[in-house]
Amino acid sequence: MAELINIQNMYKIYNPGEDEVRALDGVSLKIDEGEFVAIIGHSGSGKSTLMNMIGCLDVPTKGAYFLHGKDVAKMKDDDLAAVRNQEIGFIFQGFNLIANLDAVANVELPLIYRGLGRAPRRRIAKQSLKIVGLEKRAKHKPSEMSGGQQQRVAIARAIAAKPPVILADEPTGNLDSKTTEEIMEILTELHSAGRTVIIITHDDEIAERVNRVIRLKDGKIIEDYINGGKIDG
Ligand SMILES: Nc1ncnc2c1ncn2[C@@H]1O[C@H](COP(=O)(O)OP(=O)(O)OP(=O)(O)O)[C@@H](O)[C@H]1O
Ligand SMILES: [Mg+2]
Repeated sequence: MAELINIQNMYKIYNPGEDEVRALDGVSLKIDEGEFVAIIGHSGSGKSTLMNMIGCLDVPTKGAYFLHGKDVAKMKDDDLAAVRNQEIGFIFQGFNLIANLDAVANVELPLIYRGLGRAPRRRIAKQSLKIVGLEKRAKHKPSEMSGGQQQRVAIARAIAAKPPVILADEPTGNLDSKTTEEIMEILTELHSAGRTVIIITHDDEIAERVNRVIRLKDGKIIEDYINGGKIDG
């Protein structure tokens, strides 16, 4: 499979000096297209920071990032916006739905940035809600839905524009075990359909459900293995 992500010796250092925080402390990492990966670690280990780097939402203090072989540091703002909009479907920690928009309008948002007209937008958003089993909730606002349903709207929004990469930060955080199961089934299906799925989680049970596990501690990768057999340490 072709190389998707190549991160080389990346650092993210907050408050450089005495009480500096090394949110990323020399991370090197390669992920190929089509992989199904969990990035796992305790709270504060640097997971969201790494996700922000992978998603081109933040810039590192030091280190290189090649996405599809292209140096992200050399990309212009327009290129970065295009990557974020067309390449990656984000599912954020705590759903980030717009409170005063109903489900279908929330799912339509990334399609607006793609310049799609109203009718195709609505059609695609409805299809997307159907994939996550929420077609009957299209007119409900986030406050009128359960946590699991809100998370499914967030997934529908992430997949609406059919991005090849799904980047999900704690997609099952704060959900009960049955809903967690449903969300994992959706993410597993997206991977089976050919997408690269990267899940950020603190949950070891989620890590058992993916193909590759990358464990972070204090901003460093301390483990990287294929489920069923270790690769590099
Ligand atoms: N803007 C910031 N300024 C200073 N420190 C920060 C900032 N953002 C994050 N950090 C610190 O960087 C470290 C990594 O944070 P990060 O959000 O990546 O952790 P995480 O693994 O996602 O944790 P959680 O599981 O709680 O979401 C933490 O120690 C955090 O306090
Ligand atoms: Mg986090």
